[in-house]
Amino acid sequence: MISKELAKAINEQMVFEMYSSYIYLGLAAGLERLKLPGAAHWMRMQVDEELIHANIFYNYLNDQEAEITLGAIDKVATKVKSAKEAFELALKHERIVTGRINQLCALAAKNNNYATMTFLNFFVTEQVQEEKSVQQIIDKYEVAGSSKEALLFIDKDLALRAAPTVPAIAQN
Ligand code: FEO
Repeated sequence: MISKELAKAINEQMVFEMYSSYIYLGLAAGLERLKLPGAAHWMRMQVDEELIHANIFYNYLNDQEAEITLGAIDKVATKVKSAKEAFELALKHERIVTGRINQLCALAAKNNNYATMTFLNFFVTEQVQEEKSVQQIIDKYEVAGSSKEALLFIDKDLALRAAPTVPAIAQN
């Protein structure tokens, strides 16, 4: 059983993960426009990953017999100036997500809700990886500079991103 306050915050995060998915879809659309199919593909894989995150929160609310509400999802941008800018926007967004997960952890701790704190550990760890993987791509663009060959090489590499695997926590 979780408090109404905690259930509401988890529900908001579930919707925010949907919004994250929408953000990445917008970035993918912008990259398609720039004729960067590899970077667009990477973003599409991230769209799927964010939907998995939303599902994990959905399942947890269900498991806790909490009411689920589905609010509106904000409009997102679908234009970017460069691949590097797209990944910088992604990193900025992931840092916001990390902050939100930390706030959820603080709320679960305030509620003495150890089950939710344990549940949230998955996302605490996940956010470290989310930020790291995006930062590594930005670093590659930094090194590439304005070299067209290097930029195309990075795009080919990003095209290799595999579909996200569904973690055990999402298998409900
Ligand atoms: Fe669901 Fe990218 O955090």
